[in-house]
Amino acid sequence: MIIAIGADHGGFILKQPIIDFLKKRNIEVMDFGTFDDQSSVDYPDYVQKVCKAIIKKDADTGILLCGTGIGVSIAANKYPGIRAALCTNVDMGRLSGQHNNANVITLGGRLMDAETAVSIVSAWLDTPFDNSEHSRHKRRVGMIDELDKRYINQEIKQTKTGGCQTMQRVFEFDHPLIQHKISLLRDKNTGTKEFRELVSEIAMLMAYEVTRDLPLMDVDVETPMGIAHSKVIAGKKLGFVPILRAGLGMVDGMLRLLPMAKVGHIGLYRDPQTLEPVEYYCKLPVDANERDMVVLDPMLATGGSASAAIGFLKDRGISSIKLVCLIAAKAGIERINKDHPDVDIYCAAIDEVLNDHAYIVPGLGDAGDRLFGTK
Ligand code: RB5
Repeated sequence: MIIAIGADHGGFILKQPIIDFLKKRNIEVMDFGTFDDQSSVDYPDYVQKVCKAIIKKDADTGILLCGTGIGVSIAANKYPGIRAALCTNVDMGRLSGQHNNANVITLGGRLMDAETAVSIVSAWLDTPFDNSEHSRHKRRVGMIDELDKRYINQEIKQTKTGGCQTMQRVFEFDHPLIQHKISLLRDKNTGTKEFRELVSEIAMLMAYEVTRDLPLMDVDVETPMGIAHSKVIAGKKLGFVPILRAGLGMVDGMLRLLPMAKVGHIGLYRDPQTLEPVEYYCKLPVDANERDMVVLDPMLATGGSASAAIGFLKDRGISSIKLVCLIAAKAGIERINKDHPDVDIYCAAIDEVLNDHAYIVPGLGDAGDRLFGTK
């Protein structure tokens, strides 16, 4: 077993006694610092190191220490897959294991002595999770894990330039209107006309969130009653690139909200010999590399064509790219994260599996055929 440990200056006093205790139990320890309490440091930095080690499976569990244990627990619980429990006594240590399957415990160096901290760690380690078949605790922890799936922050990567963190992000839209329309879209009895309208409406609703980070600038507007200090979008230029042909279904909806955006098109086919995607058509706005480009592809299955399309855009000097799809399979998300860690993915639903023909299951079938009535 490997335990990652991290502390700020406020929790430092507990760190070495806990490490000594763990080593006596032959537990391997990854010590992420801090290594003295002489300077004031920022606890989120240590939380990140410990959580990253757990997410990457370099460590099995973690212990985080600060003055109260509160800051590190709040920060740790922002990381997907982390269940951090703040413990102030031995009972909490025991129950955080048995009821919550906590994979991190957090303790406050200003609230307890080292002996108490070690007893809490010991109780946590020695109390297994109640994983029995009809366990109410198992059900509840499962419900917590579901929350992670709503907004998945993929692996956190350290950039080579040092210090700065980039997140690979997947946004799954949980808005009731989008969820409702996705259900109608999935239904095999939904006909072509309605299917087309739904794709367009969902795309329009998604455009609202996809453009959340557009920069604003201040303007003064004269109203009939006086001057309003207001804001407008700061001249940031957008472009949409549907991947032919199913991506076309999303263009109208996006343009309804962002009528000034330009539209490029990219077409790919799979080479029957190499099975690699080959570009057969690409027409982009002339100033595409000065724009934020949004790639549209309703179904992210293996991620092969979306990844290739993004690659072709990058080859043309485009650096700001987002990918918007309706349904994404986990395999596709992983592929994009691996090939293009700088590209955020927006989707309305995440499905688990692909079948042998690389269709998303349950998915909604072939989006192109359903949009254009070709089957
Ligand atoms: C640091 O002074 C202190 O704020 C920190 O250790 C922790 O208690 C925060 O929750």
